[in-house]
Amino acid sequence: MPKAKVAIFISGSGTNMAALLYASRLPDCPYEVVLVASNRPGADGLSLARAEGIATFAHSHKGLERADHDAVMERAAQDADADYIVLAGYMRILSEEFVSRWTGNIINIHPSLLPKYKGLNTHARAIEAGDRHGGATVHLVTPELDSGAILEQVKVTILPEDTPDTLAERVKLAEYQLYPRALASYVARAARVTA
Ligand code: GRF
Repeated sequence: MPKAKVAIFISGSGTNMAALLYASRLPDCPYEVVLVASNRPGADGLSLARAEGIATFAHSHKGLERADHDAVMERAAQDADADYIVLAGYMRILSEEFVSRWTGNIINIHPSLLPKYKGLNTHARAIEAGDRHGGATVHLVTPELDSGAILEQVKVTILPEDTPDTLAERVKLAEYQLYPRALASYVARAARVTA
């Protein structure tokens, strides 16, 4: 079966992108990374992707209307022939038009056990609330922020001494396991349905 082609959008360090990329190089992974794109031309993840031989694209959002910047990023994904757009620390709210065009084919990872703690500062909010667990969620992207169908989640125990930073670090370890697996199952399922 041909592999699903994935464009990964990042804004920062791109460690989830790296986890997705290295997982794609293991035997039987049903997806391949065809592009890493960013709204931040200096994003560290872009240099890593380049060093790994992956095509990259960058275009700053500064001075552009939201929908126009989305269209620039979308064009890059289309030029790379991507079937899926996978958000990995992409710190932009996407326009409704863009999201609607990719419905079912655009995926995100969020560092909380959704539906808890949509938006920012998720770890601080979980600690503040006295929660026993934080975690991460892979979900489909819909126009409403962090609200699309949940694909998979992983729980991470909150330790009494945790700060938002120490919890974030452990949640990231969990994310690196979760995201490649959730993406692989999702694209494989979709391929079976359309076969
Ligand atoms: C992750 O915690 C992810 O859940 C959130 O942004 C962070 C990205 O980190 N959406 P990185 O750039 O992959 O290191």
